[in-house]
Amino acid sequence: MKARSCLQFVAAILFSLALLPAYAQKFPAIADTPPMGWNSWNKFGCDVSEKLIRDTADAMVSSGLRDAGYIYINLDDCWQGQRDADGFIQPDPVRFPSGIKALADHVHARGLKLGIYSDAGSQTCGRRAGSQGHEYQDAQQYARWGVDYLKYDWCNTGEGKAQRNPREAYATMRDALHAAGRPMVFSICEWGDNQPWEWAGNVGHLWRTTGDITHCWECEEGHGSWSSLGVLNILDKQAPLRKYAKPGQWNDPDMLEVGLLPSAGENRAHFSMWAMLAAPLIFGADVPSMPAEVRNILANRDVIAVDQDALGIQGFAFYKAPGLEYWARPLVNGDWAIAFLNRSDTPKKISHDWRKHGIGDDVSGRNVDFSVAAYDIRDLWAGKAAGTTATPLQVTIPGRDIVMLRLSPRK
Ligand code: GLA
Repeated sequence: MKARSCLQFVAAILFSLALLPAYAQKFPAIADTPPMGWNSWNKFGCDVSEKLIRDTADAMVSSGLRDAGYIYINLDDCWQGQRDADGFIQPDPVRFPSGIKALADHVHARGLKLGIYSDAGSQTCGRRAGSQGHEYQDAQQYARWGVDYLKYDWCNTGEGKAQRNPREAYATMRDALHAAGRPMVFSICEWGDNQPWEWAGNVGHLWRTTGDITHCWECEEGHGSWSSLGVLNILDKQAPLRKYAKPGQWNDPDMLEVGLLPSAGENRAHFSMWAMLAAPLIFGADVPSMPAEVRNILANRDVIAVDQDALGIQGFAFYKAPGLEYWARPLVNGDWAIAFLNRSDTPKKISHDWRKHGIGDDVSGRNVDFSVAAYDIRDLWAGKAAGTTATPLQVTIPGRDIVMLRLSPRK
């Protein structure tokens, strides 16, 4: 090698080494607003197949839900078969006979993205092969298949002192995904056990804050070592975490049970509150057989716009009375989202004089004093203008339901 090219070679190596620390990072700018899509778990559990995913993708387009923003079609647990002789994971050949690449092609052809699921332990929660010790191979395989999103669970990661270090485990998969080179949203699912909001900002794009949600308004169902939680039970755990939410770093209060709760009011209230929380909007109801009532809740563009607000400030309760909560969320252009949540089973009549109750947010520093300036009100479920803050709001909210408004400074 001539002296000059030798020097160039050494310079290239030094340059690459200098880049190394920057290399270990999550993919930027792919979750600047909370991810939106569908996931198989809440409704189908382990009963997944390529037909289910294909039919869901098709119906996501024909129902208009893709165009409302639901882009990710996420295959949760139980898609896995065996690893091949070289250790590469393969899908269950009975449930996914055409393979995951063909499924990703089907999904991509419809303008959607494909998500997949794995686990940081030896086995997933559904006892399929986990990624522990195969992180780089698995990430490479997902990238080859054309996967766009990975939910990464925390079952079978060892007990007590032998348990994997969660920071190390999630960072390893983040690095593996980055090395595989295909941008993928990385969803951390360790149920909030290790306070991911404190350390995962550079690791994942979203992190679960609690155990699993279930399709009830308010309940806690024990399963031995863990419990699943109702909508209100999960909602009540979010307040201390709001300061950690920001573009690219979302608290994940788990997937939507919209369409799986018994009443329209509950579905509407649950959806509204997840939007107030700047939560990922990943729903689980069956798309091909979805009733119009459920579809119309999920497709409410005004509520979606609150969830997807570019500031990414998570909302907060500014008033609580028995069975009743008033929530606020600062939005772009000086707007505010306001939600009046009736948690109780009976109707609640409210009278709210805006001018007597300013709202202050110590996290964002945004404040509003309605006695100084009036705001125009849009009722997001009625889908129409609803006066201004110059006059008190008088409304009766049915049991387990919500009134959600968007306030905009008067022009
Ligand atoms: C855990 C997760 C759920 C789901 C199941 C799959 O319980 O928290 O969201 O992914 O595993 O087995």
